[in-house]
Amino acid sequence: MAWLVTGGAGYIGAHVVDAMRQAGEDVVVLDDLSTGDAARIPGVDLVVGSVGDAGLLTRLLAGRAVEGVVHVAAKKQVEESVRDPLLYYRENVAGLVTLLEAVTAAGVPSFVFSSSAAVYGAPDVDLVTEATDCRPVNPYGETKLVGERVVEALARATGLRYAHLRYFNVAGCARPELADRGRSNLVPMVFEQLVAGRPPRVFGDDHPTPDGTCVRDFVHVADVASAHVAVAQALRDGRTAALTANIGRGEGVSVREVVEIIRAVTGTADAPWAEPVVEPRRAGDPPRVVASADLLRDRLGWRARHDVEEMVRSAWAGWGSPALPGPAAGESDPVRAGGGRATPVP
Ligand SMILES: NC(=O)c1ccc[n+]([C@@H]2O[C@H](COP(=O)([O-])OP(=O)(O)OC[C@H]3O[C@@H](n4cnc5c(N)ncnc54)[C@H](O)[C@@H]3O)[C@@H](O)[C@H]2O)c1
Repeated sequence: MAWLVTGGAGYIGAHVVDAMRQAGEDVVVLDDLSTGDAARIPGVDLVVGSVGDAGLLTRLLAGRAVEGVVHVAAKKQVEESVRDPLLYYRENVAGLVTLLEAVTAAGVPSFVFSSSAAVYGAPDVDLVTEATDCRPVNPYGETKLVGERVVEALARATGLRYAHLRYFNVAGCARPELADRGRSNLVPMVFEQLVAGRPPRVFGDDHPTPDGTCVRDFVHVADVASAHVAVAQALRDGRTAALTANIGRGEGVSVREVVEIIRAVTGTADAPWAEPVVEPRRAGDPPRVVASADLLRDRLGWRARHDVEEMVRSAWAGWGSPALPGPAAGESDPVRAGGGRATPVP
């Protein structure tokens, strides 16, 4: 019996595939390779296609003994979702419905859904628990919340066993070749600035937080992956039938603190050109979003094991650890002053 991992050639999906195989699970991946890369999952049974392709899903599920689905595939860019909400509703909601129709027709008993802290929106609480009100503030977050509701309604109708995993800020990589190649998360965004010889940008230092910058809960992608293994096995074994759980460390780290860890790891801690530049707050950025990670620990004994420095170190290795201009290099223009424009390893 195999687990079907949709989006298994993507950043998080490939880590889930890796962890599930290491745990002895058989895996088949469905990925349209829109942002994924088959090279992340050599030797894995990969079906190239969309979760919105009903015919393909029917053939896939008829041809393989699938005991559960881990549905990671989705669009995930907040700004894009504001510009093009229908794309997000089609991919993340209509795609999910099509997948669930095939899952139901094939009688697949278990379903793990990649949800997000975006379902909470801008929660005004110290620690976000799974009981905190869900009030998403953009179409991306809305599609994740609607997705949860769709799965729950189906579970009530058919007895489908399910888990919604609400990831907080995912970072790092288990191996360099699995690194995040997107530029939408804080760590790669800062790397991108530094390798171009530009200072990191911090959006707002006047938030009601200890250092004025936003506070988030960063969680290593290898920990995210291990949570999937624990949850998938618990669903299969009947230890849980309906679960909604935060995936975070339960610790807040400010954007400024992360930038300083990145500067230390990249050797730019003393470089004046790499001092962060403060720009105006971004509209809708909540000051603090930090998970309570107790529920999954109490229910399944899972907890995150890696700290933020490990996330940054592994992510930097995934970028090929390029040499950056040192402290003395061109306080006016580090690139022209000989630092060189390092090329990130894709
Ligand atoms: N990265 C984060 O910090 C974060 C945080 C919270 C939630 N999530 C969720 O985790 C999931 C994975 O995110 P990621 O960072 O790995 O993104 P990613 O873009 O690297 O991975 C998405 C994968 O899904 C595939 N895909 C997209 N649309 C598809 C479709 N219609 N059919 C088949 N495959 C399709 C892509 O090719 C890619 O391989 C998403 O559901 C996202 O919403 C991510």
